[in-house]
Parts: sequence; structure tokens; C-alpha cells
Amino acid sequence: MPTRDLSLELVRVTELAAISASFFVGLGDKEGGDKAAVDAMRYYLNTIDFDGTIIIGEGAKDDAPMLYNGENLGTGKPPKVDIAVDPVEGTTLLALGQPNAIATIAIAEAGSMLNPGSSYYMKKLVVSQKAKNAIDINLSPAENLKNIAKALNKNINALTVFVLNKPRHQKLIQEIRSVGARIIIHDHGDVWGALAAALPETDIDVLMGTGGTPEAIIAAAAIKALDGGMQCIMDPQSEEEKQTLIQEKININRVLQLNDLIQSDNTFFAATGITSSSFLQGVHFKNNQKVTTQSIVMRSRSGTIRYIDGIHHLDKKLNPLWNQFLKQS
Ligand code: FBP
Repeated sequence: MPTRDLSLELVRVTELAAISASFFVGLGDKEGGDKAAVDAMRYYLNTIDFDGTIIIGEGAKDDAPMLYNGENLGTGKPPKVDIAVDPVEGTTLLALGQPNAIATIAIAEAGSMLNPGSSYYMKKLVVSQKAKNAIDINLSPAENLKNIAKALNKNINALTVFVLNKPRHQKLIQEIRSVGARIIIHDHGDVWGALAAALPETDIDVLMGTGGTPEAIIAAAAIKALDGGMQCIMDPQSEEEKQTLIQEKININRVLQLNDLIQSDNTFFAATGITSSSFLQGVHFKNNQKVTTQSIVMRSRSGTIRYIDGIHHLDKKLNPLWNQFLKQS
């Protein structure tokens, strides 16, 4: 008998979070946009027939409004699930009206998501299915790129690597350039980068470098569904973060394989574009009453990937959350 598929219910959550956040595109108000998306996610998650617990709530790192770790959501009926949320992945992208801001969520069977303690940053390596057995995060970037190129049957100078534009990546960028691979450097948004690396139809082959820990676990749900490759290792960016992890008895040198990030083989991942990117359109305002969205949703058990276009009527008064934004216009 087919098991219950929560994909469409999750897309509804990310669509509505993206629409709520989209009222803040370019307004320079990271917190306002994040809060609008958080409120929408909480409101709609509570309508879903599941017994969910937030394992990865996003925002602690910069005191943003958040869905709290340990918060229970849903109607309380089975199934029991772990939830990881990033209502606005790329809050600065949203605030500046730049591409690639997404609303995203991942769920998996209860007890299966890694609880990363006080880890804020992880070093990440992500590739698509064909290269998944070729990666080893303990090898140098140059060695990994050589092995990935071989697995993808490409010359190394035909590989494109996604790297976040951070001072900590200066050496990594130099090393990638030294072997002749191409680089796409983005200021923010490595969940988007991980998706792009694991989806075979994009022009990005690999994600390398250090980004947020919550973002790693959310991305892991998608990488599982895409049968891609992902390895991480905690990479504390301050002595305080490192000492806290040591006190929490977390082994910061351990290589985390995809199954360590999420043990379950029944993961769901959904993302809706807030601003547009190369594979997801952002929220478009057609007129004062109508907006369109584009989402991707996937499920690891079946490997099904769906791209979903939505047309939403803001004037139907079904969503009390939007009244506050509509009144302003
Ligand atoms: P926010 O949406 O929380 O601003 O995160 C954006 C992001 O770029 C993530 O994609 C990435 O994992 C993380 O920030 C990197 O953190 P930092 O900017 O502190 O290096």
C-alpha cells in the first residue's frame, strides 16, 4: 500500500511563507521578512495532520525571529516527524531584492535528524548522484575536484563549483582556481547552492566550503531525495563555538555522511522561490490580487521530484496573515 505523501502539504507551507516574505523584497528589513515567513510557516504547519517537532529552527545564530527548537507543530495526529525549517534562506538576499532567496522546509521520521548541539557552521561538500562515490571531505579540494571530474566524465576546467563569498574561503577559492575549475561565487544561500550542485540539470557541479549547520541538515533532506552525495564536518568559526561543542561532548572532527545528518530514508524537502533564481522563479505579483509561485518538492522514499507552479488569490481572504500587508498598499 502506498504510504502517505506529505509533499503537497509542505509545498503549501513554503508557498505561503514565500508569499508572506515577498512583501518585504528589497525593503532592507531582514527581520520583518523573516518574521512574516516564520508566522506563515507556523500557521500552516499547525493545520497538517502530523505530530511534528522542530529539530532545526533557524535564527539562533543571529537572534532572528524563529521557530524554536523543540516546538511542537501539527494537529498531533500520526505520523511523528522531525522538522527542519528555514523560512527565509537568504535573509540578506530578500532584504536587498537579490536572486536566490527561498522559503524551505525538510521533514523526516521522528528521531532521525542530527541534533547538532551548538554547532553554527559546517564545512560541506555536495555533488550529484554520478559523483557521490567520488568525494572525500578529508582530501584536498584539488583532489576532490580531480575525482569528481573523472566521475562526471568532464575535464576539470568544465567543472563549476559553488562557493560562498566569505573571507574564510580565500584559500579554497585560490585552490579551486589553481586546478582550473570554474567558480560561481555567491554572497549567501548555500541551501540553494547544495540543490544546484545535486540537481543534474543545473550548471553547478559541486558545492564546497563552510556555511550554516541548520542549512546543512535541511539540504541533506533534498540530497537524499536526489540520491546525491554530501559530506560535512563541523567547522566552528569562533573559539567560543568550538569550546561549547567540546563541552557538549560533540566530536567536531567526525566526518558526517548523509546518513549521519538524517538517518531516515523517508525525507521530504520543499522550497519555494521568494526571489528568482536559475531554476526557481520568485513570487511574481500579477496584479493587486494575484501572485504566482514556483516550488520544488521531493521525497526520498520514491525519489519523486515535482516542480509546482502556483497561482494564488490574495483577495480571497483565506489567509488572515496577508491582511496586514495588503492594507498598506
Ligand atoms: P540567512 O538566511 O540566515 O541570512 O543565511 C544565509 C546564509 O548565506 C546561508 O545560506 C549560509 O549557510 C549561511 O548564511 C552562512 O553564514 P555566514 O553568512 O554567517 O557565513
